[in-house]
Amino acid sequence: MADVAALDQYAARLRSEELRSQLNYHNYRYYQLDQPEIADAEYDELMNELRAIETRFPELITPDSPTQRTGAAPLAAFETVEHRLPLFSLSNCFSEEELRAWHRRAAERIEREDFAITSEPKIDGLAIALVYEGGRFVQGATRGDGRHGENVTANLRTLKTIPLVLQGHPPERLEVRGEVFMPKSGFEAMNNEIAETNQAREREGKKPLPLYSNPRNAAAGSVRQKDPSVTAGRPLAIFVYQLGWVDGARPESHHETLAWLHGMGFNVNPEARRHDSADDALQRIAWWGKERERLDYDIDGVVLKVDDTRDWDRMGVAGREPRWATAFKFPPQQRTTKLLRIEVNVGRTGVLTPYAVLDPVFVGGARVGMATLHNEQDIRRKDIREGDTVVVQRAGEVIPQVVAPVLSLRTGAEVEWEMPARCPSCDAEVARDPEEVAVYCPNTACPVQRVRLLEHFASRGAMDIEGLGEKMAYTLFREGLVGDAAGIYDLTVDQIAALERMATKSAENLIAGIEKSKARPLTNVIFALGIRHVGYETARVLATHFRNLEAILDAPAEALQEVEGIGPVVAKSIADWAASPGNREVVARLKAHGVDFGGGMPEPAGDQLAGLTIVVTGRLEQLSRQEAEDRIREHGGKVGSSISKSTNFLVVGAEAGTKLAKAEQLGVRTIDEDTFLRLLKDGPAAL
Ligand code: IVH
Repeated sequence: MADVAALDQYAARLRSEELRSQLNYHNYRYYQLDQPEIADAEYDELMNELRAIETRFPELITPDSPTQRTGAAPLAAFETVEHRLPLFSLSNCFSEEELRAWHRRAAERIEREDFAITSEPKIDGLAIALVYEGGRFVQGATRGDGRHGENVTANLRTLKTIPLVLQGHPPERLEVRGEVFMPKSGFEAMNNEIAETNQAREREGKKPLPLYSNPRNAAAGSVRQKDPSVTAGRPLAIFVYQLGWVDGARPESHHETLAWLHGMGFNVNPEARRHDSADDALQRIAWWGKERERLDYDIDGVVLKVDDTRDWDRMGVAGREPRWATAFKFPPQQRTTKLLRIEVNVGRTGVLTPYAVLDPVFVGGARVGMATLHNEQDIRRKDIREGDTVVVQRAGEVIPQVVAPVLSLRTGAEVEWEMPARCPSCDAEVARDPEEVAVYCPNTACPVQRVRLLEHFASRGAMDIEGLGEKMAYTLFREGLVGDAAGIYDLTVDQIAALERMATKSAENLIAGIEKSKARPLTNVIFALGIRHVGYETARVLATHFRNLEAILDAPAEALQEVEGIGPVVAKSIADWAASPGNREVVARLKAHGVDFGGGMPEPAGDQLAGLTIVVTGRLEQLSRQEAEDRIREHGGKVGSSISKSTNFLVVGAEAGTKLAKAEQLGVRTIDEDTFLRLLKDGPAAL
């Protein structure tokens, strides 16, 4: 009997291998070449047969089996992957002149005038790196910070345009880079589907699922799903645009690389072109400017690369941007639509900000229903009225803006807008600072202000309390559980667990997060208080100078103003805040709860660098750029952002760019990282 079973399994293995190879081949014909050889029904038959075998003999399932595209078991969290070579970003050009300048610099570097360049649409999606070993897809990671990304292999396996097995004779190991994106059509269909599901959910009393605001976010969100079967259901695609690294020889030009990758089964953008001159490339860019809307994906520019890859090493990298490539960016997209009405938003400091409610339009790759109007003066200056047809603009991830009204379309029914005299949240009479443009609600008990302040207090860069976002802040306030920042530390697991849609486990997690936040650095604590004009950078300056929260709050405005980087407006704002008994009471309660007010600050490092201005450039080995600059400040030195005659030292790391040249030109002393560390320890006399 046992022998029969073994034989059975042997036959199944042979057949499953055959099926897998056939299915992978047909996937390639279908998705990459767009030339299927068999009908869909035949394909399904092969797939079903393979599924049946794998159900019977699960031990025969391989990670690259086409059946696995439907998604593996959910992931707990993404592990970090170190990229063997960093993923770079691109320099930008915004005009013909800038592009020509890039082309000229390239010519100088390679000492040739006539060199070919390639152009490809720049898709606004997310960059990923795919590793293949023995022709099989073994790892897919997000770009992350360029050096470390997230391992999203299981999710990427579900993309039909990512080959699981390479065609032909692929090198033993290689890494390919590309952009994962969501086609516009798929994006709309998906959002419509979510909206429909939400109607059903609403009837069942369930929370609605969020809609995605644009295809880019939808792609990023879909790739980072914990459950690969969710990713599998999302309309994602990829175009690969670069060979990261390879064991063995690589083609000598970019256009050949793309063709080579295509031959292995990768999806390569068919719109890539090769140009003999900057003029030729500019023509293609101009054409894209007109035609890009016709594509089924959003592009925000055109990527240009020196075609001869042998030149790439000679040209090198400036910072994180290779000199052999650049991105020509299109100007922001504009659309006209109806401005239905103007409403105001109350911020955490009480400032009232008007915004436009629009008849929704699709602009710059996203549906826009609201746009910022900055302030009253701006509305007046642009003469924007309720009921106007307006030009709306959106660029990249920035908040959409109302550019101007279309005066020729005025009917006379438009209404001039005025800032409300009372706060839309608490009905308090609004106040105007004579020196400032802002109008604000002076009522510190104003409910919207309170909620916004709680949200800010818990946000990243502030107390960074995971699980305490906008919704939770609102719920806690509405339920009367938390009235101010210090109240967060009075919360109990039972109180939170009793809230709608909260379980004991999530309540415990939130409490743990709150507890952890007590040890945040002083800078974060100062920033978290939400004092007007005190952003993170100002908070850092205050923390470094005073090293203790109470010392800051006890300091008179004059003393605050003496701190470098603190002006009279900021100083007054801090002193006013500290003078309020209500604020002092919150601070006292935070202290009683054990929030660190600076006790954990490291001892002053000394003033070895007093009077010195130091600039850092390139990549250091032992310190990050931020750490190096913090060290300079901690030791009493000044950090310069550019080289001038008054710069004392330039710390030079790997791949240093123009600053090094400038320093040499001006005779500024350059030092390496080790010397810098010695300088920190012993001061300039020791060098
Ligand atoms: S090349 C030099 N080619 O743009 C190597 N990037 O701003 C950099 N992108 O992170 C990548 N389309 O995600 C390259 N055809 C293309 C691209 C492209 C989109 C993205 C990519 C990168 C970002 C850089």
